[in-house]
Formats: sequence, structure tokens, C-alpha cells
Amino acid sequence: MGNAAVTARFDEVAPLAVRQQPSLHVESQHGQKKKILFVTSEFADLVKVGGLGDVSAALPRALSPRHDVRVLIPGYKTIVDSGHPIRIIGEVGGHAALPPCKIGRMDLDDGLIVYIVLCPELYEREGNPYGDANGRDWPDNHIRFARLGLAAADIAAGTACISWCPELVHANDWPAGLAPAYMAWRGQATPSVFTIHNLAYQGLCAPECSPELGLPDEAFDPESMEFYGKLSFLKAGLTYANHITTVSQTYAREITTADFGYGLEGMLKLKADAGLLSGIANGIDESWQPMTDPHLVAGFSARHWQGKRANAQYVEQTFGLDADGGPLFAVVSRLVQQKGIDLTLDVAERIVTGGGRIAIIGRGEPDLEAAVAELGKRYPGRIGVNVGFNETDARRMFAGSDFLLMPSRFEPCGLSQMYAQRFGSLPIARRTGGLADTIEDGVTGFLFREPTADAYFEAIERALNVFKHPELLNAMRCKAMAAPLYWEQSVAPYDRLYTELVEELEANAARQQVGRSL
Ligand code: ADP
Ligand code: GLC
Repeated sequence: MGNAAVTARFDEVAPLAVRQQPSLHVESQHGQKKKILFVTSEFADLVKVGGLGDVSAALPRALSPRHDVRVLIPGYKTIVDSGHPIRIIGEVGGHAALPPCKIGRMDLDDGLIVYIVLCPELYEREGNPYGDANGRDWPDNHIRFARLGLAAADIAAGTACISWCPELVHANDWPAGLAPAYMAWRGQATPSVFTIHNLAYQGLCAPECSPELGLPDEAFDPESMEFYGKLSFLKAGLTYANHITTVSQTYAREITTADFGYGLEGMLKLKADAGLLSGIANGIDESWQPMTDPHLVAGFSARHWQGKRANAQYVEQTFGLDADGGPLFAVVSRLVQQKGIDLTLDVAERIVTGGGRIAIIGRGEPDLEAAVAELGKRYPGRIGVNVGFNETDARRMFAGSDFLLMPSRFEPCGLSQMYAQRFGSLPIARRTGGLADTIEDGVTGFLFREPTADAYFEAIERALNVFKHPELLNAMRCKAMAAPLYWEQSVAPYDRLYTELVEELEANAARQQVGRSL
């Protein structure tokens, strides 16, 4: 996040007083649907950079039979221009340098309701949610996402002129980190959950940004959101949410250690020991059906494989690969350090020597983009590269490939490996985070432990070996395709968590009422 210089003084900003309290204690009853505001910076139907977009689109829908979950997202240009009607239904006031703005409502065809923070000067720009077309972060990201967090707090306080008032706010990753914090500073009772999708992105800004965000003095404190001399949006979420979740059980353990904790491991260990941090694995939604996915060139199943071949042919043609029947490896990834792209660069020659072909699609850090593009030029016919983002091609790559390369240095959950499995492509991945939880080594994919090219290639050699034995390959594919990855398994723990937190608040409110009437 950029650390823009403070351009104005906001010393006279009003304190974060609660203007109105929601009537939480009377709204929901035991066992009834709870009203949940799901705050996110990505939503795959409308705007997606990575897996957060997928989860934000899938989880609220998967929870909808049990809870009334509504999404809150900034009104980026792509959303405002999406063609879906947006009705203005509310507004929130300004605070420090956060401008006042309208709240829009979009009703999607399947009934999901999306609230949109409409603030053209902050959000309607060319580029992705976090930066411009050249990948540079927007210098005012602290203001852009504080605006999101405060809008969530306003909606929860019932001060956004919206008749619907959430009983719980579920904030996701650093862009939503200030939602629980603003709520706490204002003394709002509404409980909040903060989900870590990736601890590596922390939303840091200089302490001088504090007046712009209208933060109370206590914010710049190690017990609050101060982090090594900066303000951390991520830490704000961790400090003030009633409960923290992350997206796999292994990652929930890993982030309490120095190797994965980015300096927050001490705090996270305390939270875990207090029962306030849990791992709830992501799932995949039911659009990931190889027989019916309309993105595919042809459908297929564990009994009818022909369609898989048609998708492979598409990948060969699109990526300029020799159609020689050699094993086809796919990389569908953000091109960032996390994903171990350097390890794939290190083993690429050995894969080619082993008769393999590699199709790579990805976008990300400029040096990694240049390195994979260069790799493609070095091995024409054997390695094809698209430095870009294309959902249809990604799906066809999962469907057409034999193996997915995913040697992530860390992986909170990972969705690509699950998509690949569902489409009969066996992931070759590092035994970390969600990869360790979703791949059974030698059964539904291949795992290696040490983040070295040699350990990685040892797993690739095992995959090449399996490829030489079609019966073995088919047996593994069938098991991978049948792995139970859908959202249903994750819905129950979220359901329990939401219900517990809301009912705990209701019980406290009821106790207070009794106390007052005595
Ligand atoms: P992360 O969120 O860390 O990027 P995940 O595996 O959870 O990792 O999710 C990545 C998502 O982004 C998947 O849906 C994957 O298919 C998609 N994806 C990544 N890169 C591309 C790309 N270049 N083109 C299309 N889809 C992509
Ligand atoms: C993050 C993580 C990824 C996870 C996704 C969705 O981007 O890197 O592992 O699957 O969020 O939770």
C-alpha cells in the first residue's frame, strides 16, 4: 500500500463516536438465519485478482440456505460498468479524509445481494482493485480501503440509511481490516470475524496517515495496529475481530510459527491458545464440473475421457505446443514469489528433457513475468506462455493438462490445485498450507517438502513415471476427481462460528436487560 504524504490536516476530526446502536438483541432468535455482512475487495462475478475473489463469490452463496449473507465491495469501475443495475439505497458520511459516499445495491440473478461503496474519486479507475495497469499500488490505498472498512462499520451501526442491519460483520484480508477496528473504537457491539486469506499482504502505511484515516491515538500502539513503526490494516483486523479464521487447518498452525508468521506469529499464537483462531478450509463451487462447465471445449467425466483430449488440443494450439502426446504440465498462477515460480523456472529444462510440455498462464511481478516469457522463447513447441489473465483458458488448462505445477513456498489454502483435481489434472505441489490438506501424496497428486528444485523434481519424476502407466494414471485421476472439495464441508464450521458469536452477544444483551429491569 502506498504511503501518500498527508496533503491536508484533519486535526479537527470528530471522535469515532457511535451515532446509533443496532437493535441486535431483538432481531435474531435461536436457530434463525443470521444477517451477515461479508466485506471483501474482490468478488469473482465482477472483479477477481486471485482466490479471494472466488471465495467471496462462493462462500456467501454456500451459506445462503442457513444465513442472510450480503457482500460489501468497493464500486470499482469494472463493477459500475458491469451492466448490472445498481440502486442507490443508502449513504455514509465522511470522516477525516474519507469522503462521504452512497451505498448501491446490486441484486444478482441467483438472489445474492451485493452492496457497493460508490465513491468514484476513490474507485473508478483503470486497473485492478489494488493498483494501476502497470501493477503499481494506488498511492491512496489506505484511504480507499479505510473507506470500505468504515462503510461496513456504518452499515453495522445502522447509520447508512439502509433498513437491513447485519448481526455480524465478516471482514476478509487487510483491505477489510479496519472494519472490526472502527467498530471497536466506536463501541459498536456487533461481533466480527476476520479471515486471513494471505498473511503476506498486510496493508502497511506510515503513521503520518493516521489523521487522514481519522484513527484514535490508541491505534498507534503495539496492542492495536502499530507494526514495526507502521500502521497495519491486517493487524487492525487481527486485534479487533472477535474471532480470526484462516483458510486451511495447516496454515492456521503454520502462521503461529516464525517461518510463516511475518512477525505476527506471537500474537497469532496467543489468539490460537485462547481459542480465537481457527482454520476453515475453502471449497470450490459446483461450476467446477468437467461434464457441464460451459467454458470447456468439451465435457468429460471419469468414465468418458474423450472430452479431456479436446481440451488438451485447445491448450496445445493456443500455447503453440507440439502435439506429440507427451505429458502436459500447466501453470495457472499469479506470478509472485509466494507461488515458487522460480522453482518451476529451475526445473523447466529437466521437464522438457523428460519429454514434457508446459503451458503457463499468469500475471504478477514484472521480473517473473519477464522470466517466464523468456522461458517460452527458449523452448518453442515445448513451453508456451501467456502473460495474462483468462478465466476460460485457465479452466481449459485444468481440463486439458495431465499435471498442475504448484510449488508454492506457502499456500494459505489454494484453489487451483482443487480445480485441477476436479478436472483430472494431478497437482504437483509443496507440502504446505492448504496444499498439504487437499492433496494425498501418490493418490490425488504429488507432494514434496523442501523448497528446492531437486525435491520438486523428485516429485515430478514420480509423476512422469505414473504417466508411463496409463492404468495408474487413470486410477489417480479418478480419485482426484472424486475428492470431496465442495463448499458444504466448510459451511458447517462458519455456520457454527457465526451462530455462536451472534448468540453470545444476544445472551449478553439479554443479561444486561434483566440486570437493568431488576
Ligand atoms: P491465490 O489466491 O493465491 O492467487 P488460489 O489458488 O487460491 O491462489 O486462487 C487463484 C485463482 O486465480 C484460481 O481461481 C485460479 O484459477 C485463478 N488464476 C490465477 N492466475 C490466473 C490467470 N492468469 N488467468 C486466469 N485465472 C487465474
Ligand atoms: C489467498 C491465498 C490462497 C487462498 C485464497 C483464497 O490469495 O494465497 O492460498 O486459496 O486466498 O482464500
